[in-house]
Amino acid sequence: MTVASRCATTATSLGGGDPTAPPPANPFSLVDLQARSVAYLRVSVTDRCNYRCTYCMPADGVSVVPRAELLSFDEIARLVRLFVDLGVRKVRITGGEPLVRRDIVKLVEQVAAIAGVQDLSMTTNGHLLKDLAQPLRDAGLQRLNVSIDTLDAQRFAQVTRQGSLAAVLAGLDAAARAGFVHTKLNAVVLKGLNDHEVVDLAAFAAERDLILRYIEYMPIGVDQFWGPQTYWPMDQVRQTLATAWALQPDGDHGLPGGGPARYWRGVLRSNPSRTVRLGFIAAISENFCRLCNRVRLSSTGTLRECLSTAGALSLRDMIRQGCGDEQIRQAMRDALLGKVDGHRFDAAEKTLESMSAIGG
Ligand code: GTP
Ligand code: 5AD
Ligand code: SF4
Repeated sequence: MTVASRCATTATSLGGGDPTAPPPANPFSLVDLQARSVAYLRVSVTDRCNYRCTYCMPADGVSVVPRAELLSFDEIARLVRLFVDLGVRKVRITGGEPLVRRDIVKLVEQVAAIAGVQDLSMTTNGHLLKDLAQPLRDAGLQRLNVSIDTLDAQRFAQVTRQGSLAAVLAGLDAAARAGFVHTKLNAVVLKGLNDHEVVDLAAFAAERDLILRYIEYMPIGVDQFWGPQTYWPMDQVRQTLATAWALQPDGDHGLPGGGPARYWRGVLRSNPSRTVRLGFIAAISENFCRLCNRVRLSSTGTLRECLSTAGALSLRDMIRQGCGDEQIRQAMRDALLGKVDGHRFDAAEKTLESMSAIGG
């Protein structure tokens, strides 16, 4: 269906629509066919990034979309408001690298001002946080997740291709000074690269009172890097960790979030007074799709129902064609009914978009 016809025909669908189509379980909220309700929106604000992580992008980067195709801040704010009308309460700003989007602090301010957004967070590589942490905090950002895969400066430069561990560490310091709490570190664990660092990373998080999440490498990306030579499952990570940290389940962890991580408390065997919160994101080995509560908005305004499948609905085109709020809300509800029941990560269906374009 073209955008123009979507705008024109949605008025009909408000009055009942296609009589053969199954009605949403709850017409006032975003619910998919598996009755999972969606309260978490991930908004990518750019597909650009100042790093070139090997597991995410090819060395020369990915082609970036022209600026005019990106959603404007007003368009993002309008869409967030419509998602909030449908039950979204938690909004995460991602990229690419969100901090390379010009005037990002203003966008944070705009989204923070939307009534109903109860949890506003950002996922960043941390490179530009040193100067931006305080302005982001002042603008109303509540939480930060920062990627850090290794504590070895050389390996860090190797894995990010153009990143700087020193800059990220300075960014983490600035975040703490600005008053961010519950900051999470994200470490993608790659076999042969940083799998031997899982114990050190936990000690680093404990020292700084940060929450550390280990992430399984997912077959998303434009290169052919994913495979048995790089994939490292979470049970191996737990085995390595157990040599130094006793792991206690932390089911009711009380952390803000609701993302895909499962949390444990690590207690240092050599000094039980030292503890750390550890999360495991086992996207491949322990499929968590049954609990999926999220939807994604790409930087060009496409609604993506699942990380593993390309979205088809351009909310940007609907806006630019002059569709009304209710028409857009209805299109959002309809799209959610097409949300797959489980991810499609397998050898046959490698996702060929880079994670930077999707926003993680
Ligand atoms: P919290 O709100 O703090 O729980 O954050 P989060 O874990 O939802 O966000 P973050 O951006 O830090 O994501 C961490 C990792 O989880 C990234 O590698 C994401 O790609 C991955 N992730 C998030 N949502 C999904 C999902 O629906 N499916 C899969 N397979 N991975 C996901
Ligand atoms: N598999 C798992 N995690 C990935 N990330 C980027 N690409 C991948 C991948 N292929 C992580 C980043 C960041 C988060 C948003 O996604 O390291 O922490
Ligand atoms: Fe690395 Fe994130 Fe940038 Fe991808 S988007 S290159 S994972 S910092």
